[in-house]
Amino acid sequence: MEESGSGNGNRNGSKIINLAFESSCDDFSCAVLLKDEKSGIGGVKILSNIIYSQNYVHGIYGGVVPELASRNHIKAALPALRVALSEAGITLNDVNLISATAGPGLAGSLLIGLMEAKTISFVLNIPLVPVNHIEGHIFSPFLDTVETPDIFPFIALVISGGHTHLYLVKSHSDIRLAGRTKDDACGELFDKVSNYLGFGYPGGRIIDELAERGNKEAFDFPLPMIRSGNLDMSFSGLKTSVISTVNKLGGPGKIEETVIYDIFASLREAAAALLYKKTSQACALYGAKTVTVSGGVSANSRIRKVFNDFGKKNNLRIIFPSVKLSTDNAAMIGYAGFFKRSINPAEDRDEFLNINADASWEL
Ligand code: KG4
Ligand code: ZN
Repeated sequence: MEESGSGNGNRNGSKIINLAFESSCDDFSCAVLLKDEKSGIGGVKILSNIIYSQNYVHGIYGGVVPELASRNHIKAALPALRVALSEAGITLNDVNLISATAGPGLAGSLLIGLMEAKTISFVLNIPLVPVNHIEGHIFSPFLDTVETPDIFPFIALVISGGHTHLYLVKSHSDIRLAGRTKDDACGELFDKVSNYLGFGYPGGRIIDELAERGNKEAFDFPLPMIRSGNLDMSFSGLKTSVISTVNKLGGPGKIEETVIYDIFASLREAAAALLYKKTSQACALYGAKTVTVSGGVSANSRIRKVFNDFGKKNNLRIIFPSVKLSTDNAAMIGYAGFFKRSINPAEDRDEFLNINADASWEL
C-alpha cells in the first residue's frame, strides 16, 4: 500500500505493520499487528498485544478512580511500547500505520495513549487512525475467526463494564444502535454485586468462577424490561433485587458460603437470559444470521454456553473473541484501524495531528 503523506511509505511490500494503542479506561495496551494487503480483511496476525492492567490499583476503591488511571497510564506508556515492539521483533522504523482509541472513555486516560500515538505519528510521519473503542469490541471476534463478506448484516452485542449495547452491523462503516441498557451496564451489575458482598472489583470473573459451585435455580431473579417491546435493557432492577435478597438473608458477611454461590449462579443465569432474549429479538427483527458477543463480560462461561446453545437451536452463527481478547486490549483497536484506514484514509500530517480524544464519542 502506498501511504499518501507518509514518510514511511510501504517498507514491507504488501505487508502493513500496525502499531495500536488502547487506554480508554484502566488498562494500558499496546499491540503490533501484521496484515497482508492482498488478503482482504482477513490475514491479520497479532505479533504482540501487551496489556498493563490496573485492577490492583482500583480494587481497593471498588471501582476505577479516573485520576489514578491516567497517572498509571503515564507510567505504563513507554514500557508497553518497548515490550510490544521487542516481542514483535520490530522497531518503530518498521511501522507504517498507527491506530489509537480516541473515545469513548475517560478523557484523561484516552489522552495518554492517543498522545503517544500522535507523537510517533508526527515525528515519523506515519498515518494515524482514530478508532472508536466500541468498534474495536464489535469486530474483535474476527481476530480469532476469519472474517468473511457473508457475515453482514450481523447483530453485535457489546457487554462490558460501561456498555451493554446491541448494534445492527451492515458493513464496516454502517453500524446502527439497535438497543441499549437504560441504566447499569451488565459488567457494572457484576462489579456492584461483588463489591457489596465483599468480593472486590472487578467482580465479573470471580462471580463467574464461584457461580460454578452454586445452583442456578435457587433464586428467581427478575428479568427487567424483557417485554418492553423494544431492544432496550435494564440491569439496575436486577442488581436491586439481588441486593435486597442479600439483605433479607442477613446482609453481607452474614450469609453462608453455599448460599452466596447460589446467589451468584442465579444472578449469572438471569443476566444471560436477559442478554440472549434481547439478542434473539434483534435477530428476528433484522433477519440476521450471525451474532457477535464481545466486551469483558463476554468472557463469562455461562453466557458463552447459553448463546452457543441458542445459536445451535436457531441455526445462527455465534462468534466470541477468545477470553484474552474479550477485555480491553490494543489488538482489537489495531484490527478496526486496518479497515477504518481503507474506508477513510487520512491525507496528511496535519490531519493526524488534528485527531482529538472524544470521551463521549457515540458510534
Ligand atoms: O471490556 P472491559 O475490559 O472494559 C470496559 O470497556 O468496560 O470489561 C470489563 C468488565 C468488568 O465489568 C468485569 O467485571 C467484566 O468485564 N468481566 C466479566 C468477566 N470477566 C470480566 N463479567 C462476567 N464474567 C466474566 N468472566
Ligand atoms: Zn471495553
